[in-house]
This record gives sequence, C-alpha cells and structure tokens, in this order.
Amino acid sequence: MRIGIIGTGNMAQTLGAAWARAGHDLAIAGRSPEKARALADTLADAPGAAVAVPVEEVAVGRDVVLVVVPWDAAEAMVAQARIPAGTAVIDATNAVAHGIGTLLIEPGESMAGRIAQAAPGAHVVKAFHTFPSYQWTQPPTGRAPIVVMSGDDPGALKAVGELARDLGGDPVVLGGSDRARQLEEVAGFIIELAVNGHDPSAAVPAA
Ligand SMILES: NC(=O)c1ccc[n+]([C@@H]2O[C@H](COP(=O)([O-])OP(=O)(O)OC[C@H]3O[C@@H](n4cnc5c(N)ncnc54)[C@H](OP(=O)(O)O)[C@@H]3O)[C@@H](O)[C@H]2O)c1
Repeated sequence: MRIGIIGTGNMAQTLGAAWARAGHDLAIAGRSPEKARALADTLADAPGAAVAVPVEEVAVGRDVVLVVVPWDAAEAMVAQARIPAGTAVIDATNAVAHGIGTLLIEPGESMAGRIAQAAPGAHVVKAFHTFPSYQWTQPPTGRAPIVVMSGDDPGALKAVGELARDLGGDPVVLGGSDRARQLEEVAGFIIELAVNGHDPSAAVPAA
C-alpha cells in the first residue's frame, strides 16, 4: 500500500518501521522536515520505500494516511495535509492527559469525528490507539493482539485490517464511526490502569 504518515514520533517510528518491513511504500511528514527526513533515512534498508515529504504532499496518491500527532495538533495537521476525498485515514490519537484516562474533548465528541471534519470525504478509521507504540517494534509471539477499529467505509476498514495483520495483529471491527468515542474511552481506561501499575488485560475477562 501507499501510506502517508503525519507525525515523526514514537508511533510514526514503530508503525512506519513495521509497515516498511512488510514492503509498504511510505511518505512521512511532520512539523519538522528534519525529523521526517531522519525517520525516512532509518527505514532506507527496509523492503518498502520511505521518503520525507512536506505535510501538504503527504496524502498525494496515498491509499491510507496515518495520523500520529498529539490530539490537539491533529485537526490542524490534517487540514494542512488536504487529504483527498476517498482516502482512508487512520486516527490513532488519544485525547487524554498523561496517566489520566478521562477524555479531554467535549462530551459526545470523538477525535475520529473531529479529524473527519478536517478531512471532508475521507474515510476515517479509529485504530491502533489502544496499544503502546512499543507493541509494534517486533512481530508479536503467542496470542495475536486484537486491533479493534471503528469506521463507516468497508474499503477503508479492509485496508486498515490488512495493515493490522502486517503487524501481527488480529483486526476486529467494532461498528461504525458512532462507536469511535467508545473506543477512545477504552484507551483512556487502559492508559490510566497501565500508568498506575496495573495490567489492563487483567481487568477484562480472560477468554
Ligand atoms: N506513544 C504511544 O504509545 C501511543 C499509543 C497509542 C496512541 N498514541 C497517540 O499517538 C499520537 C502520537 O503519539 P507519539 O507517542 O508518537 O507522540 P510523540 O512521540 O510525542 O510524537 C509526536 C509527533 O507529533 C509532532 N507534534 C507535536 N506537537 C505538535 C504540534 N503542535 N503540531 C504539529 N506536530 C506536533 C511531534 O513533532 P516534534 O518532534 O517536532 O515535536 C512528533 O512528530 C498521540 O495522539 C498519542 O496519544 C500514542
């Protein structure tokens, strides 16, 4: 797939590296062109191609665009990227204060919905926000992590599901965009438990 990545931090590095290993073609953009170039350089030996581009070009000709900047910068960066209608957009942001799981957005809102408004006609999928970035540094052994996602467009969900499988994940669709806030609340629950030293997986029933 041709993937655009908005952001150059932890999530961009780990997801970008995993997808470059899987042979995908990446365009990376951030507010720092130097950091975008440095990240693309680290992926030079991977089977997939990786180039640094200006934010305005990160969505050009891309099948999927990943948004991995802080929640309060996401809408501005997405608007700057002028993502074409029909593009699949992965929202992996978490609008929570570090260590505190309550959402910082207004009641009833979701970040996925806010990003959808900044990219009219794009197909937003909420995904990858429930795992720490280091989850994806190596292919998982044992039980595949379930990558829960929500979105309205079947083609976008299929593409994001394939990208989840490339990480060793097991994609599961939990409804449409109206479920995005619930998925965002789940991440807040996980983050608060984890930061306070509890294993979040122990707080849900074992299979
Ligand atoms: N880290 C995780 O484990 C994890 C897991 C799930 C979801 N998430 C979510 O994924 C997103 C990215 O997390 P991360 O850990 O990759 O963050 P990070 O390592 O701090 O990287 C953040 C990226 O966003 C850029 N950025 C920061 N402020 C900005 C602004 N005002 N305008 C434009 N760009 C800005 C940074 O650029 P500079 O380097 O120039 O500052 C950097 O490229 C966040 O929404 C986070 O909640 C993170």
